[in-house]
Amino acid sequence: MSKSADLASIIRDIAGDEPVRIGLILGSGLGHLAGAVEGVAIPYSELPGFPHAGVSGHNPNLVIGNLEGVRVAVFGGRAHYYESGNPAAMRLPLETLCELGADTVIATNAAGSLRADMPTGSIMCLTDHINFSGLNPLIGEQTDKRFVPMMDAYEPELRTALTSAAKGEKIEMFEGIYAWYSGPSFETPAEIRAIRTLGADAVGMSTVPEVILARFLGLRAAAISTITNMAAGMSDEKISHEHTKAMAPLGAAKLEVVLRRFLRDLK
Ligand code: HPA
Repeated sequence: MSKSADLASIIRDIAGDEPVRIGLILGSGLGHLAGAVEGVAIPYSELPGFPHAGVSGHNPNLVIGNLEGVRVAVFGGRAHYYESGNPAAMRLPLETLCELGADTVIATNAAGSLRADMPTGSIMCLTDHINFSGLNPLIGEQTDKRFVPMMDAYEPELRTALTSAAKGEKIEMFEGIYAWYSGPSFETPAEIRAIRTLGADAVGMSTVPEVILARFLGLRAAAISTITNMAAGMSDEKISHEHTKAMAPLGAAKLEVVLRRFLRDLK
């Protein structure tokens, strides 16, 4: 059996056989949603090969259960490239998600805003991304499957459903392009000017490798950023991980309402 099939069988033994429909990956400071799931939390440490997701503000559990009546797998912690130097660190968790039956993954993240009209506390549905890191989780993959098309990587149908969920809940949700910066240092103001010139609306240190992997694995993908700060040089606001964690709940509350409505409308 493959590693992911082994893991899926461990998870099913703990959480039951019902297939999962959707995977949710939670970003910094967004862990609250995992607690809302009626189900079982499995520490990553009990899942051999799962990454050590050690960033503070993340909770490295996989929670399997029901949210708004939909069977979900919530990744309370994600592994970032900057923790290990491995851009494919989320490959095994995503392969396991497929083994559990899911066909969709929604990634969330904390991000800096590059737009003066998109303040801290906003949420932004990703329409596309710019891989500013130049890294790719599929480097080294040997099969022709590696040539993954990235048109509509953030699936239009999912984006429409998320947008109508936000509208239904009267929550303003921006749309925009997310640039992946490797981290862990934050960007310089000059880098932010460059990224803005390239056409990005938000910047962060995650999500892009996961979406590339998701498309590679045949998962439908969508992603939402919570804006925790104006990016470097855009305001006098101090940028720090502490600030990210402190500000994440502003957007997280909106995000939770939108995701819950999205799941309810799926049924
Ligand atoms: N840059 C990169 N990642 C981030 C930021 C930022 O300004 N804010 C939250 N995550």
